[in-house]
Amino acid sequence: MQTPVLAFDVYGTLVDTQGVVSTLRARLGDEASRFADRWRDKQLEFAFRRGLMGAYADFSQCKREALDLVDQEWGTRFGEEFKQSLMAAYRRLPAFSEVSAALERIRKLGVRCVAFSNGSRQSIELLFDNAGLLAMFDDIVSVEEVRRFKPDAVVYAHLRRRTHSRPDNTWLVSANPFDIIGARYAGLRAAWVQRNPKLPFEPWGDPPDMMAPDMEALADQFEVMLRREGKLQP
Ligand code: 2OP
Repeated sequence: MQTPVLAFDVYGTLVDTQGVVSTLRARLGDEASRFADRWRDKQLEFAFRRGLMGAYADFSQCKREALDLVDQEWGTRFGEEFKQSLMAAYRRLPAFSEVSAALERIRKLGVRCVAFSNGSRQSIELLFDNAGLLAMFDDIVSVEEVRRFKPDAVVYAHLRRRTHSRPDNTWLVSANPFDIIGARYAGLRAAWVQRNPKLPFEPWGDPPDMMAPDMEALADQFEVMLRREGKLQP
């Protein structure tokens, strides 16, 4: 019986991309959150387009180029030093409050936990070291190893190769619907962390096999499922 593998998306799932708001607020006040959202949307769009073009670049480059664009769009005219402080804030995003305890519980179920991200291995290690999550994962799988981006089917196949796991035994855990739909299309199982109750799942592609409002609730559901399948460690 193969031990289930849980591959956790990072940005927006384990760590909060709104973590840059406190730095932005010094310049933008109440508009900081809207800027942060736009910045996140554009960095993902740049990754999607680079993937389609075959023009891979480190995800941190997508982040910086998206920041430069939104700074121009908004006319905020941030100086290089402030931009560096925003990029530094991205390297130390906080974990969501329930993540650490939930991961502890999930690991005790006897499953394998890996991080699976567009971010480079180095950036995720730094992020996790700062957020206190490094010891929670058996490995970090970065798309940089295949120079493609989520939701390219290549990255999910790479995940399975790196974890030596079968599709039906490999779970993608993510708060990002594009990631869930991509993983399901690649034949993996998927658990959606619906962190924003106002965010509906998208009306196309295969739905997630599991959904929960946060990681604690997800740990509950994995425990029930593994017990039902007789896969719980004694
Ligand atoms: C990731 O961590 C970008 O959230 C996405 O791969």
